[in-house]
Amino acid sequence: MWSAGAPGPLLGTGRTADVFALSRDRVLRRYRFAIDATAEAELMRYLAAAGYPVPHVYDAAGPDLVMERLHGPDMLADLGRRPWLIPQHARTLAELHDRLHRISAPPGLPVAVGADGTALGGGTAVLHLGLHPANVMLTQRGPVVIDWAGARVGAPGADVAMSYLILMTSDTDLLPPWLRLVIWWPRAAYVHRFLAAVGDSPWPHVASAARVRIAEVNTRPAEIARLLKIAERAAASAG
Ligand SMILES: Nc1ncnc2c1ncn2[C@@H]1O[C@H](COP(=O)(O)OP(=O)(O)O)[C@@H](O)[C@H]1O
Ligand SMILES: [Mg+2]
Repeated sequence: MWSAGAPGPLLGTGRTADVFALSRDRVLRRYRFAIDATAEAELMRYLAAAGYPVPHVYDAAGPDLVMERLHGPDMLADLGRRPWLIPQHARTLAELHDRLHRISAPPGLPVAVGADGTALGGGTAVLHLGLHPANVMLTQRGPVVIDWAGARVGAPGADVAMSYLILMTSDTDLLPPWLRLVIWWPRAAYVHRFLAAVGDSPWPHVASAARVRIAEVNTRPAEIARLLKIAERAAASAG
């Protein structure tokens, strides 16, 4: 869609894509690999039509996705700045899960699979599988969910389990240094409130979701060690 090189100021960069500002109202999300963004764009349009808060999609071709530019902090940054909003933000994340899981998946959305390639729990809901505070932007029209590349169809509890694991085991080196030192308590409080408010239980899915995350290429050794511990505990309490 655009030639190589930066089409505008770089707004954000993640595991798989760079996000450039095209104008005050539009961004370009460009995969760094030969990944096709058109299915992701189609899902985002489907979710918007179902009333779910996602960025408006303008165009998609090859690795490029042009969408509405959101203005506002992401929920993780806001938690760092205003920790007294932990209960409110945890409830918002739980609501975003519940609302998403009431939407039936569109035909063609791939099934969520475990590390061994078999279906992860069954179910017909749309799962984001990365619905955590860094993927929620707090805008004037309310919270909006980004980063739909990993969305699949499956059991709602699997999505809750994935968020739980990401919240509990992710390295915190992207946070400001002062926050890294004090993160343990607020993180536990946030997770506790999220789990209390969300509709579906993560526990039947925690061990299999941990194995998925362990198998992902971007998961770091320290994170794998924490995931293994949680998976072991989950398997022991199930068996
Ligand atoms: N529609 C958008 N408007 C404004 N900023 C965005 C938008 N989409 C993504 N970003 C910025 O780019 C970052 C990475 O985007 P994301 O889709 O989460 O990619 P990744 O898969 O690499 O995590 C986000 O954290 C956010 O700062
Ligand atoms: Mg992201």
